[in-house]
Amino acid sequence: MLCYTPCSLLKGTIFLALTFIYQSNAQLSSTFYSNTCPNVSSIVSNVIQQALQSDTRITASLTRLHFHDCFVNGCDASLLLDQSGNITQSEKNATPNNNSARGFGVVDSIKTAVENSCPGVVSCADILALAAEASVSLAGGPSWNVLLGRRDSLIANQSGANSSIPSPTESLANITAKFSAVGLNTTDLVALSGAHTFGRAQCRFFNQRLFNFSGTGSPDPTLNSTFLSTLQQKCPQNGNGTTLNNLDPSSIDTFDNNYYANLLTNQGLLQTDQELFSTNGSATISIVNNFANNQTEFFQAFAQSMINMGNINPLTGNQGEIRSDCKKVNGS
Ligand code: HEM
Repeated sequence: MLCYTPCSLLKGTIFLALTFIYQSNAQLSSTFYSNTCPNVSSIVSNVIQQALQSDTRITASLTRLHFHDCFVNGCDASLLLDQSGNITQSEKNATPNNNSARGFGVVDSIKTAVENSCPGVVSCADILALAAEASVSLAGGPSWNVLLGRRDSLIANQSGANSSIPSPTESLANITAKFSAVGLNTTDLVALSGAHTFGRAQCRFFNQRLFNFSGTGSPDPTLNSTFLSTLQQKCPQNGNGTTLNNLDPSSIDTFDNNYYANLLTNQGLLQTDQELFSTNGSATISIVNNFANNQTEFFQAFAQSMINMGNINPLTGNQGEIRSDCKKVNGS
């Protein structure tokens, strides 16, 4: 711009406007904390390794938290807010999370450790993304460069959690629509479902398959008969719905591609797991076959899909805040 003195003000204004536009579309970056908290990844990983000593399930639980955060208003740590003060309807108390989502205490320990090294810098939303990567990696799965720079929400969205997080009794068409609503495609759905290679599920989330599936008076026909008998014993009719079962009985706490091998033999635990392979004509079938036959391809796809999921609608720039306590909005 050819400019004399009066118009330098205009130039400044244009610069500020461009900066603002840039910030509101800001991309996450793997080097976001390079100067302000260079050791954040190892701090997160160390706390998880300590927690693993007394809780072999924690890596699975932390991985799930990132998913349940990202599907509701984007990856903004809205899941972590306790119900109190201005937060009258927390996501923690939403149906998919209540008495199910776990690992919040370990998230708080991570936050304390990170604050001790780098006070006021690292968001709780980024801690969830880093904890998911460290967890998968510690359980034997892939590693990836986590993109960072998310900020934390000032609100929670309980009704959003109830409507956006998939339920284990939905059709494949519904699940696909819920992934599509947050910009994730069929490959993302199949790859991310592979997270059910570790962790546990309570009987109440799949016992509708065991005795009287969809009012037929018979079990789900896509359940392997030996696996069915085992599950009927673990989860009897009118039994305790909170009894825990391994999502992947063949390698319970290890992150591998056995989940897909299980689907090939009708041993998916949740209805929505088995649907990926047993829904006639579905585009998911060939992807399941591919991941069952090739762990390297699964690991690559999983890492990419975790990055895709981590990119859902982050708060960046001067949106939201860096919470000092992941359970509470600052000053509340
Ligand atoms: C595709 C739709 C999905 C459905 C319907 C679904 C549903 C469920 C259900 C019902 C449980 C058992 C919870 C309990 O018993 O308390 C569970 C556990 C789990 N889910 Fe999913 N999930 C889905 C996708 C995902 C994704 C995308 C991830 C992560 C990338 C994930 C990670 C996990 C993990 C790791 C566990 C075990 C958690 C633990 O042991 O604490 N799930 N899921």
